[in-house]
Amino acid sequence: MGDNRIKDILVLGGGTAGWMAASYLGRALGPTARITVLEAPSVPKIGVGEATIPNLQRVFFDFLGVSEEEWMPECNASFKMGIRFVNWRTPGVGSAEARPHGTRRDHFDHLFGLLPSHDGLPLSHYWTYKRLNGTTDEPFDQACYTQPAIFDQKLSPRYLDGTRWAGYAWHFDANLLANFLRRFAVEKQGAVHIEDRYTEAEVDQRGHITAITTATGRRLEADLFVDCSGFRSLLINQVMKEPFLDMSDHLLNDRAVATQVPHDDEANGVEPYTSAIAMSSGWTWKIPMLGRFGTGYVYSSRHASQDEATEEFCRMWNLDPETQPLNHIKFRVGRNRRAWVKNVVGIGLSSCFLEPLESTGIYFVYAALYHLVKHFPDKRFDDVLVNRFNREVEVMFDDTRDFIQAHFSLAPRDDTPYWRACKELELADNFKEKVALYKSGLGVELPATDEANYYGNFEAEFRNFWSNANYYCVFAGLNTLPDHSVPMLSHRPSSIASAEDVFAEVSRRREELLKTLPTMYDYLRHIHGK
Ligand code: TRP
Repeated sequence: MGDNRIKDILVLGGGTAGWMAASYLGRALGPTARITVLEAPSVPKIGVGEATIPNLQRVFFDFLGVSEEEWMPECNASFKMGIRFVNWRTPGVGSAEARPHGTRRDHFDHLFGLLPSHDGLPLSHYWTYKRLNGTTDEPFDQACYTQPAIFDQKLSPRYLDGTRWAGYAWHFDANLLANFLRRFAVEKQGAVHIEDRYTEAEVDQRGHITAITTATGRRLEADLFVDCSGFRSLLINQVMKEPFLDMSDHLLNDRAVATQVPHDDEANGVEPYTSAIAMSSGWTWKIPMLGRFGTGYVYSSRHASQDEATEEFCRMWNLDPETQPLNHIKFRVGRNRRAWVKNVVGIGLSSCFLEPLESTGIYFVYAALYHLVKHFPDKRFDDVLVNRFNREVEVMFDDTRDFIQAHFSLAPRDDTPYWRACKELELADNFKEKVALYKSGLGVELPATDEANYYGNFEAEFRNFWSNANYYCVFAGLNTLPDHSVPMLSHRPSSIASAEDVFAEVSRRREELLKTLPTMYDYLRHIHGK
């Protein structure tokens, strides 16, 4: 029996995905494998401001052995406790006073964390019961979570002594993260960094890549190739000829215009959330970091020209399109039919892309890395491992695509051709089934674990990535309610009565937090030492 171990891994591309791959695989394999990253000196990185989800620390950074205190100051990182969706129900202009239920703006929040349960049913079921019986006016997010009020006051998810009271994720500068992970992989793990440009690949008679060559005449051999070359997908699409499955029949947006805007944090505070602001032909992200925010208008080129989108975007932030540096991005929506083909695995944009509406871009990278390590091959490249990996990536991607599509199809807005066109796209069958379950009052499946274990237990979370809470926040936020509450509830009048204590506890806790928390700005100055 010879040694079949993979000894040489070549990562093509040194963006965020490339250095995440190198550091993660470096940690998983240790010194038994050599990792080389080939990075073209002139390739610009796409990332500016990135938004993430809470398991980033537990399943990615903790795995590397890197604490928040180490990476956050290096990446201009800030916290987020969820996403605030603005103007998804109405255009929201000029009618600030005329809001139902006394809310000042047309917004709702999508919070992290699971819903609390009461007598074996999630709190959402009790809220639905009250709402459908006309006994509450409170929107879902405000009734079931303390965070919306905390967002309004721009307070922190942690006390200055470090105690955390809420689940949170991060905003950061993705270029700085790539630099941080490059130093980590090269200096601490011994990854080899080559700055040179890829020219072509050599393929053997089995169709495996054996080596790639570079502009200066290098020839780099490896057993496994990880394609992190971005939208160009140099190995997976171009060499392996794996087809990209275009999903523009699910999602209309295919362009973005992005920039950075300086911000006076001292005067205005720092928002502890990502914003997703609906526009006439798409939506705009806002990702606050210390001293500035990253923002970009994601739009449909079938409904707005580049000039129209730029004009609407610049008007919103009061920017001068002539002088403001703007990054125009064209993207493809969908995924490769197979993420892993023979000895080539695509990670990041070379593999799949979805608009960043639910902050899943970086998640897709480390979720794929987790599954690559779990299904790590030897030189025999057992098909069972390859197929399982591909299936995992496929489900992760398609479920998220459907959830994102639901935001557009359920949004009450129909004031522009874009918003009307969104409603004509058909949802996948298994997603329609989820909506039907939700409408029946049953809700969408509950995660198997409690919150304390949820974000650390990647397997459990992965299977149930979009939990009951995610659906409720977004569906109820978009005014899509169940048709009736779950029938069983009407047999439990005492549970309905005692659920009032849970709602009262949410209010009590909210008041306590409002009185005691530091601002997000103060907390960031504290950790960044500014
Ligand atoms: N299950 C994930 C979580 O709660 C889902 C998620 C992804 C999410 N993006 C989000 C939740 C944005 C709230 C806001 O972390």
